[in-house]
Amino acid sequence: MDMEMWTKVDQWFGDHLIGPDDGLDRALAKNVEAGLRAINVPANMGKFLHLLARIQGARQILEIGTQGGYSTIWLGRALPSDGRLITLEINPETAAVARDNIAHAGLDRIVEVRVGRALDSLEGIASEGLPPFDLVFIDADKPNNPNYLEWALKLTRPGSVIIIDNIVRSGYVIDAEETDQNVVGARTVTKLIGSNPNLSATVLQTVGAKNYDGFLMVLVDGS
Ligand code: DHB
Ligand code: MG
Repeated sequence: MDMEMWTKVDQWFGDHLIGPDDGLDRALAKNVEAGLRAINVPANMGKFLHLLARIQGARQILEIGTQGGYSTIWLGRALPSDGRLITLEINPETAAVARDNIAHAGLDRIVEVRVGRALDSLEGIASEGLPPFDLVFIDADKPNNPNYLEWALKLTRPGSVIIIDNIVRSGYVIDAEETDQNVVGARTVTKLIGSNPNLSATVLQTVGAKNYDGFLMVLVDGS
């Protein structure tokens, strides 16, 4: 079992369970054209986020880390027409690519891309008195994951769901000697979640076209 097999299996299930979507397919092509790294979630994980948002009945979604907007479109497609998705991107050129992709997917009325350091944008959002987010997807710079969790907890309610991407990091997450700050971020946020009595969480290890990684899923039980 290896990467080649995982990629073929991703493709097979994608062909049978997902199918084409002009907005999503165009976004992937435009991201390549714009020279963005192909670090978007794979289609099956995008669909997983989409289903989770629908199961949750989410109306307000926060995404930390937009990049080209691929997962943004998956999540946006789960919202009702009066729903709202705020997504945070540090790089203005990348945000422009995402905005174009989101508009072509027909989601520009419900999706807002905010440009700047996510920690600053989060402070801004907190000061606006918006209703709590039903779902938060954290997929930005990994060393800040403990800080993003803290903000996510301030901006959600009991019953909200928080998903953190790239938590397994090819298994390095279990290596206590690992000094890579991406791995340290994953370990630290996992321990913070596990020791918080208001949170119920688990991990979904994944293999596929994007190698070996995983989602950490959190249900906010209390606050
Ligand atoms: C990287 C970031 C991601 O969010 C991801 O899913 C894969 C890789 C990265 O920065 O290398
Ligand atoms: Mg990611």
